[in-house]
Amino acid sequence: MKKVFFILNFLIIFTSVNAQYNTLWIPDTLSGTTFNLNIKDTFAQIVKTGNQTITGGINNKFWGPTLFLNKGDVVHMNVKNSTNDSTTIHWHGMHLPAVMDGGPYQVIPPGTLWQPYWTVNNNAATYWYHPHLHEMTMDQITKGIGGLIIVRDQVEAALPLPRKYGVDDIPLVLTDRKFSTSNQFTVAPYGDSMLTNGVLRAQFNVPAQVLRFRVLNGAIERSYNLGFSDGRSFYVIASDGGLLNAPVSVTKYLIHAGERVEILVNCSGQSGTSVDLKAYNSLLGNFVAGGENFVTGPFGNALGKKDFNILHLNIGAPTNNPINVIPTALVNNTLLNAASATVTRQLTITDSAGAGATGPNYFVLNHHLFKYNKNDYQVPLNNTEIWEITSSSIFGHPFHIHDVEFNIISVNGVAPVAAQAGWKDVVFIPGKTGNTSTVVKFIAKFDDFADSLHPFMFHCHISLHEDEGMMGQFIVTSNTPNGINDSHDPTTDFSLYPNPANQKLFIAFQNTDIKAYYIKINSAVGRTMLMLPSPVLQNGIDISSLASGIYYLQLTDDKTKNVITKKFIKN
Ligand code: C2O
Ligand code: CU
Ligand code: CU
Repeated sequence: MKKVFFILNFLIIFTSVNAQYNTLWIPDTLSGTTFNLNIKDTFAQIVKTGNQTITGGINNKFWGPTLFLNKGDVVHMNVKNSTNDSTTIHWHGMHLPAVMDGGPYQVIPPGTLWQPYWTVNNNAATYWYHPHLHEMTMDQITKGIGGLIIVRDQVEAALPLPRKYGVDDIPLVLTDRKFSTSNQFTVAPYGDSMLTNGVLRAQFNVPAQVLRFRVLNGAIERSYNLGFSDGRSFYVIASDGGLLNAPVSVTKYLIHAGERVEILVNCSGQSGTSVDLKAYNSLLGNFVAGGENFVTGPFGNALGKKDFNILHLNIGAPTNNPINVIPTALVNNTLLNAASATVTRQLTITDSAGAGATGPNYFVLNHHLFKYNKNDYQVPLNNTEIWEITSSSIFGHPFHIHDVEFNIISVNGVAPVAAQAGWKDVVFIPGKTGNTSTVVKFIAKFDDFADSLHPFMFHCHISLHEDEGMMGQFIVTSNTPNGINDSHDPTTDFSLYPNPANQKLFIAFQNTDIKAYYIKINSAVGRTMLMLPSPVLQNGIDISSLASGIYYLQLTDDKTKNVITKKFIKN
């Protein structure tokens, strides 16, 4: 009797543990060339019982749709900020004009529509978009604002790789959160619970074939040391900015905040079995985010230096036409040649408050905390540069640069392992060893997009460090300083027609070689309603979304950067 009770009890515990899994949510998709993104305050039932969690979402309740972009397309983004706070949306990893980049300078006030556009020229890979408002990035990412971008190109399309989204090509956004007793997110560097695509204790039914996972580390701070519970090998096929030359077999892969990795795992013939994707964070060093074992205090959390589940996989029948073989070769990357670099820039990471400052110690880039309008570098257009980062910080930092994808040259003199030897936009800078600083070198080419007015950012991708000021900026300059052409008449006058207008507003320039660098439409009380970077004006400006009333169109001239304001009426 006692024994039967024990077995029954065991079964009950076993089934209730199983029942605790929640089905992985696969973000919706948007494709084409025009994308409507509505950033909003919302709520979601993340914790199964009790209150819903107040979240931020883009079109959704938490996180946003996955955007499918094709290399070569011109894509137009309609980003509407429906929250009560200012924000920005940065296209992480995209090579695009600084004014479209969505860094801390491209603030989208509440109620405003921001309409950047660009020609996609990134390689097929996994990128993402997220808020980047200075000092607010951690808060806004914590709410769940962000989304994945999947770029497709012809080279990738020709390879025998899984690409049935949500079936054998599965996006995994990794983050962790701390919940208050009323199920609300606590803004903290580390969470107590793993969230996979916004789902606690996630499981997913997958077919018995080669699976592709597109993994984003979307955490505030934590790194995840990926591996499978049966110790099986898996294959890294892509880093941040593109496919590798060939799949690289590994049993563990450490992914840091902001990084992406695409992996293949072969589940052919394994129908009816299950396996867990886990974070083997007990193996992390103390100065890698998540490798510390803080139990209390501002960094205290339940997952520090522990192994924990990311996704429970139930393997079922294969699909039609499954991929069953890991390819042996992928692409032929032509990496940048160190001999072609004309400049080596020396950057530093230190643990201090910056020159002359008093107060608490921060992690600092180039001896100063981030300041608006403090520019670190002017990079001449088309320069190939080596960036050499010397870190005397005790802690490891994932360093990210906007505008470019780079190749890592070395970490402490050692060339990167094969899985890191492709295109990257985040590189992990390990903490110092004893008293010896870490030196990391990468090489990048800064082609396109000279703009003396709008900088690109570089920073630590741990949002806490970034918000505290571990960020700098650079501008890309062309040989015509400020882009000012002397033969140009600086009296950029124009008129608006029709006025009043209803659907479309047109601009008539007195001087026909005028181009608009930026247009803002403000309401009579000064609220920005539309933000149009480098607008194409021939077809007019769509003002159909504006309520009737008086508005002011503020145009920044492309050459002089003079700003002229004209009034119009929307009826
Ligand atoms: Cu993903 Cu500047 O950031
Ligand atoms: Cu970025
Ligand atoms: Cu950092």
